[in-house]
Amino acid sequence: MNNNPIGVYDSGFGGLSVWRELHRVLPNESLVYLGDGKNCPYGSLAVEQIRVLAEDAVKLLLERGCKMIVVACNTATAAAIEYLRAKFSDVPFVGLEPAVKPACLTTQSKVVGVIATERSLTGEKFLKTLARYGDGVRVIKSIGRGFVEAVEQNAEQEESTEQLVREVIEPIIAEGADIIVLGCTHYPFLRDVIERVVGDRNVKIIDSGEAVGKRVESLLDEHELRAESGHTPVYEFVTLADESYRKRLQEKAFAE
Ligand code: DGL
Repeated sequence: MNNNPIGVYDSGFGGLSVWRELHRVLPNESLVYLGDGKNCPYGSLAVEQIRVLAEDAVKLLLERGCKMIVVACNTATAAAIEYLRAKFSDVPFVGLEPAVKPACLTTQSKVVGVIATERSLTGEKFLKTLARYGDGVRVIKSIGRGFVEAVEQNAEQEESTEQLVREVIEPIIAEGADIIVLGCTHYPFLRDVIERVVGDRNVKIIDSGEAVGKRVESLLDEHELRAESGHTPVYEFVTLADESYRKRLQEKAFAE
């Protein structure tokens, strides 16, 4: 048993989609959410730069006593998870990867769309997963241009955001995809808009939220790190940006 918090890290607001899932499935666990906010978006930064940012973020979370770190960012996972595991070898890490495996295993049309950032789509692990499960499946890789910025600006419901989403989603559907994978933790905040664009066409939208929740649970058990059942959780929100950004993180975490 360990009542220390779990650290959840992202470039900004995106990891809150993972935070919400952890909050739902692990109601006794304290959580420290670190949304960088200052260096966001990470999507096209150099790998080395993301590693430096991620290392500093992990140090900050460990200073706050975190017992486990969830890198709730596909981009930071692609660029830095192995580096972080080597650097902080006694800390359990959970990373985020696009749900390509279930998509490739369940597609009927044999065409799958994956939307993510540039860095995630060129990540070694992602390409390996594709090579392993993508046999006989055409995987269309698209960058969700402007998606992260829209979520950071709280502009999910703006007309201009729907236009951005349409530009990315329509060509994937036109190619015959029946599954679209949201490979960036910011994108679940655009799920409503994406579903609106998809309309009544037979296309399933999937993300990694649920799988991450399960992975965190099993890792807590493996390391005997679960909080006590009567433990009252504390939720802390931290940022490298300013106080108003920090407040917005907190509000978005609990927003409906
Ligand atoms: N939320 C992130 C991800 O899952 C990062 C997006 C960004 O900062 O570009 O990839």
